[in-house]
Amino acid sequence: MNAPLVLGIETSCDETGVGIVRGTELLANVIASSMDEHSRYGGVVPEIAARAHLEAMMPTLKAALAEADVTLDDLDAIAVTSGPGLAGALMVGIGAAKGLALATGKPLYAVNHLVGHVGADVLGGEPLEQPTVALLVSGGHTSLLLVRDLVSDVELLGETIDDAAGEAFDKVARLLSLPYPGGPHIDRAAAAGDPRAIQFPRGLSRPKDLERHRYDFSFSGLKTAVARWVEQRRDAGEGVPIPDVAASFREAVADVLITKAVAACNDLGVPRLLLGGGVVANARVRELAEQRCAEHGITLRIPPLSLCTDNGAMIAEVGAQLVMAGHEPSSLDFGADSTLPVTQIQA
Ligand code: KG4
Ligand code: ZN
Repeated sequence: MNAPLVLGIETSCDETGVGIVRGTELLANVIASSMDEHSRYGGVVPEIAARAHLEAMMPTLKAALAEADVTLDDLDAIAVTSGPGLAGALMVGIGAAKGLALATGKPLYAVNHLVGHVGADVLGGEPLEQPTVALLVSGGHTSLLLVRDLVSDVELLGETIDDAAGEAFDKVARLLSLPYPGGPHIDRAAAAGDPRAIQFPRGLSRPKDLERHRYDFSFSGLKTAVARWVEQRRDAGEGVPIPDVAASFREAVADVLITKAVAACNDLGVPRLLLGGGVVANARVRELAEQRCAEHGITLRIPPLSLCTDNGAMIAEVGAQLVMAGHEPSSLDFGADSTLPVTQIQA
């Protein structure tokens, strides 16, 4: 079979993404985000996200087909995120994908969103060397995976037991009266601060924690520590040095993320690390990853940022990989699974 032409639909959170790939070649990656509508609430509102997907779906689909210069008829398969994510948001993408599959007679692949983030790395770059460790960090997830085979064998090594890393950035930004989503604002403020100014805690990093939670993350204690520090300063009538707080907080998050990811690579004897998710935009996360991976002889791969954040092309790519590996399409009775485990690559 020639490289399959696959269209992917992603609606698990606030991005309506439609992407088109041919094999591992990226042909289109169109995204409509409802982030502006959520910003006044300080977080993604599921009902607003679902309605925005409904409105954005057709225009985004049309734009992707135009960008790739193909028609629905040309497609070999359609792929869609079936979970994990917001149930109501997922349902919009699933409904659209099923409708398209029924109307065109094309096979449909229901794909795991987290595996999609790994699939993003395959697009247009070097072939993915496996096994690889993957660290996925966004507003919705903080997961450490062992990917032995993208289409058949993905293991969850650990994940956050409370807030996602991006969520922690957003909450701390709010404490500092910075706008939502807070990650980029903290990142910018941190550039002028001293990361050693305040010693904030590294979640689940004490020897006792490491016994049970070696690859798990926790950011809620860190958020509370920042809140308390800021409160004490304000109560004492002193100003809050936002750059120092931002830099020290960012350092704590980056340190714990990269320490655990590098530990997984070393423990498992897998000298490859892949990063994905919106938090990968963070300057210190990238810098620390580059530095520590170089020290430990680990090959680091980071897809371009447009493919790190949620998008349809990464879902199309997992679909293409499933087609190329000879997997059967999903049966049309699958539904949205907001807690789909990462071990289930295809629903
Ligand atoms: O992957 P993404 O666009 O959407 C999902 O959450 O699925 O990630 C968005 C998250 C937000 O929490 C945002 O604050 C965070 O990524 N983020 C950052 C940066 N840019 C975006 N966090 C830290 N530093 C950044 N530069
Ligand atoms: Zn995501």
